[in-house]
Amino acid sequence: MHLLCHILLLIVAVQAIDYDLDNPASIKAALHSIATQMLTHYTGNLPGDNPGNLPDPYYWWEAGAMFSALIDYWYLTSDPSFNNLTLQALTWQAGPSGSFMPANQTRTEGNDDQSFWAFAAMSAAERNFPDPPPSLGVPGWLGMAQAVFNTQAARWDTETCGGGLRWQIFTFNNGWTYKNTISNGCFFNLAARLAMYTGNQTYADWAVRVWDWTAEVGFMTDGYRFWDGADVGSACGGWNRIEWTYNTGVYLLGAAVMYNLTESPTWRSRTQGILNASMVFFQDDVMYERACEPVDTCEVDQRSFKGYLARWMAATTQMAPFTFDQVMPKLRTSAKAAAETCTGGANHAACGLKWTDRKWDGMDDVGIQLAALEVMQSTLISRVDPPVTHDTGGTSQGNPGGGEPGPPPVPVPEGLRIEITDADRAGAGLMTAVMGLIVLGSTGWLVYE
Ligand SMILES: *[C@@H]1O[C@H](CO)[C@@H](O)[C@H](O)[C@H]1NC(C)=O
Ligand SMILES: *[C@@H]1O[C@H](CO)[C@@H](O)[C@H](O)[C@H]1NC(C)=O
Ligand SMILES: *[C@@H]1O[C@H](CO)[C@@H](O)[C@H](O)[C@H]1NC(C)=O
Ligand SMILES: *[C@@H]1O[C@H](CO)[C@@H](O)[C@H](O)[C@H]1NC(C)=O
Ligand SMILES: *[C@@H]1O[C@H](CO)[C@@H](O)[C@H](O)[C@H]1NC(C)=O
Repeated sequence: MHLLCHILLLIVAVQAIDYDLDNPASIKAALHSIATQMLTHYTGNLPGDNPGNLPDPYYWWEAGAMFSALIDYWYLTSDPSFNNLTLQALTWQAGPSGSFMPANQTRTEGNDDQSFWAFAAMSAAERNFPDPPPSLGVPGWLGMAQAVFNTQAARWDTETCGGGLRWQIFTFNNGWTYKNTISNGCFFNLAARLAMYTGNQTYADWAVRVWDWTAEVGFMTDGYRFWDGADVGSACGGWNRIEWTYNTGVYLLGAAVMYNLTESPTWRSRTQGILNASMVFFQDDVMYERACEPVDTCEVDQRSFKGYLARWMAATTQMAPFTFDQVMPKLRTSAKAAAETCTGGANHAACGLKWTDRKWDGMDDVGIQLAALEVMQSTLISRVDPPVTHDTGGTSQGNPGGGEPGPPPVPVPEGLRIEITDADRAGAGLMTAVMGLIVLGSTGWLVYE
């Protein structure tokens, strides 16, 4: 072959998706391709399947996270391509009470799983995403977020560790004895945003309560680092010190919302403190999951986590504009690096896990796509309006008393209980914490002191 042909082929082979940070049209085209690639995995809209479900190996919560990202996608790009799909999935999984407690998920649903769906509903309210038609018989987006809040507030458990949410909702699930940071961080984040949207002080009081407890129990250090959680048997003392990007992200946005709401110097310095501490998740300004990427142990769930830190850092710049100059260079550099990993597939739209590598790793995975989508769309944040509230044009229908628990959970016979082994993991919820405890020291998570 002609030498020129070889050179041409080489160029084609490593062609990454076009993503020009200074050209919104280029960004939007790239995002459309990446979202489309992500949705090649989605089957919930096909006849005979259940809207909102992703097939194995993806857990139920990740679908909620995916639709949350697609609501932001619409808000940041104005492209409604995926709105119908999103509305169908959210309303189906929310159920008539709106609390995202479908009976089919009883066997595995944890508080954190429920929250990732609630975030989609909360974002839909904050963005005035098209309302569910009344014919569907479900609450409005705000009503759904309130329903989840109410079910979780009722689960606040002062019997152990002086408070906090347990990881699991149902006693018969493994993880019932674990209190994890993400479940509590999600509750904090949701409470803060409900306080912002509705102006109802009860939510703000809950946000303060969850924050204080997180600090008291030591899941958050004085330096604003976040451990994974602890068992109630040790009174939440024996921390599992794995640090994940999404824990930092979920508390960061919650603190920024509380700052916006109160304008207090305390919440300002907490926001700044978390932001400062979040810098451990950047290498030369590129975000990475340092507990698992360096040792190649990132599991299905964990491949998506960076996306939520990116999502919540971007939202933080709206609630606490003083953070913009510190956040945006990190998001832009990370987004550019992530885009450079997107060379896979026919449309150069399958991305890689390690943005720091700046090259594709041969994988085609929902979590990887989701994280790339989140970070690459986060750079558009300064081009859109801040979230609405009840007083600034928000129209979502609420119901402060919503969220009846729905049908009682079906007890799972002893023999069918989920054991924490790799073989049984399919169908389990956010298994990271317990898996982490068990494999710590064997397969290797990186725990930094
Ligand atoms: C639960 O599973 C059943 C059986 O597959 C299905 O008919 C139903 O639609 C599912 N419910 C939800 C909310 O997905
Ligand atoms: C969404 O569904 C509505 C009603 O079925 C339809 O009119 C509209 O064209 C759909 N939008 C997109 C972007 O597919
Ligand atoms: C954050 O870091 C800056 C310097 O990078 C420092 O001046 C500031 O005191 C830190 N703030 C907090 C709350 O940690
Ligand atoms: C609160 O958020 C609004 C909307 O982004 C912003 O204009 C305002 O400056 C923020 N308030 C503070 C105290 O930063
Ligand atoms: C405020 O929220 C609380 C907790 O959900 C609820 O009980 C109360 O009715 C709400 N108040 C108003 C005025 O909506």
